[in-house]
Amino acid sequence: MEKLVIQGGIKLFGEVEVSGAKNSALPILCASLLTSDRVRIRNLPHLQDVTTMLTLLGHIGVDVELDEKMGVILSGANLDRLQAPYDLVRTMRASVLVLGPLVARFGKAQVSLPGGCAIGQRPVDQHIKGLEAMGASVQIDQGYLSVSAKRLVGAEIVFDLVTVTGTENLMLAATLADGETVLRNAAMEPEVIDLANCLISMGAKISGAGSETIKIEGVPFLTGFDHSVMFDRIEAGTYMTAVAATGGELLLKGLDVNSISALVSKLTNSGAEVKSEGEDLLLRAQHRLNPIDIKTAPYPGFPTDMQAQLMALNTVADGTSTVSETIFENRFMHVQELKRLGAQIEIEGNIAVIQGVPGLTGAEVMATDLRASAGLVIGGLIASGETSVGRIYHLDRGYERIEEKFGRLGAKIRRVSN
Ligand code: EPZ
Repeated sequence: MEKLVIQGGIKLFGEVEVSGAKNSALPILCASLLTSDRVRIRNLPHLQDVTTMLTLLGHIGVDVELDEKMGVILSGANLDRLQAPYDLVRTMRASVLVLGPLVARFGKAQVSLPGGCAIGQRPVDQHIKGLEAMGASVQIDQGYLSVSAKRLVGAEIVFDLVTVTGTENLMLAATLADGETVLRNAAMEPEVIDLANCLISMGAKISGAGSETIKIEGVPFLTGFDHSVMFDRIEAGTYMTAVAATGGELLLKGLDVNSISALVSKLTNSGAEVKSEGEDLLLRAQHRLNPIDIKTAPYPGFPTDMQAQLMALNTVADGTSTVSETIFENRFMHVQELKRLGAQIEIEGNIAVIQGVPGLTGAEVMATDLRASAGLVIGGLIASGETSVGRIYHLDRGYERIEEKFGRLGAKIRRVSN
């Protein structure tokens, strides 16, 4: 296993190149299952989860070609295994996104139940409810979801709660259904809009993506596409929060700044200076920041995927702050590890109360899930002395070349095998 070794307490200065969004790339890769035409996807991030998804698509029978710039050309012309096996699905819950397209195009699919993960049970009942509303029959046997439908029929589906991949799975399914599907209480994340734009370029008839009501008029078939994945707003936010926490200056280019406005307002309230011009954003932080209260919520609220990173910043803010996690039931596993660095945090239910301390001290910590590990890296960049972050395979799922990108900002961070 590998770990990151960080000599912290250094201000960071420079520019980071933001990669394509993992959470946009994954559903867009699944859109290749909806057509027998070749499709081209550009700006894919070089991440473990993308590799896992390409392996899964290859298992199903998609022909995968890598192009010279980490783009892919996929062909779903000869799919011969409408099945997503447990050994792949258990490592990446987003595998469930093959379900909608396979049932829509072939009338059947078998996908392993994803199982829970570190941050929560993460059921898929809303995905199932929507497919059943569209006429599919769903059986669960031996840990697999077996779904079949003569042809999916458009339906009105009201989600019981906002679900990002639930919205995406049913939008994918509805593109080839007979008639109109209306998704109510839909997720409004920018990645949902990016997927909708990709599907529209294939000939899908979709309106309302980015709002809480999405309408999809089914069409008989979809053509290929050539789509460039949007920028990763969580990766961008992670670097912004790191530089705000250590002090320094960061330049990011190619952003849609509106899609990170909740984070920008929090960092501004903390005392960081954030300026944006067009797609460029400049962040400066010179002094000890003010504490910032956070309550995670579906987009456009504060993103749960940024919660651990902001908590790390709050550990050395000048005062007390609270962080409420309302999306997942167990997304505070970075707390115990941050306390090993000297943070003062108490958990009361789904609320963490952070007492800012003057500084952190390096220690050995262990990553437990993707975004928790990002919070620990920020903790290590803040702490004086040496911090090692173990089990960084969690990080590699969602951050491309993290030690290289932080290194470009002047951080002393290296990857070692332990
Ligand atoms: C997506 O996960 C993201 N993953 C997550 O990012 C992100 O944290 C999450 O949305 C929330 O923004 C991808 O897009 C690949 P949900 P998803 O369905 O879709 C409950 C990262 O770090 N729920 O929006 O799986 C669920 O348990 C990852 O990049 C049901 O109860 O999340 C959770 O409490 C982590 N039944 C809440 O809804 C369902 O059928 C929101 O989950 C579906 C979800």
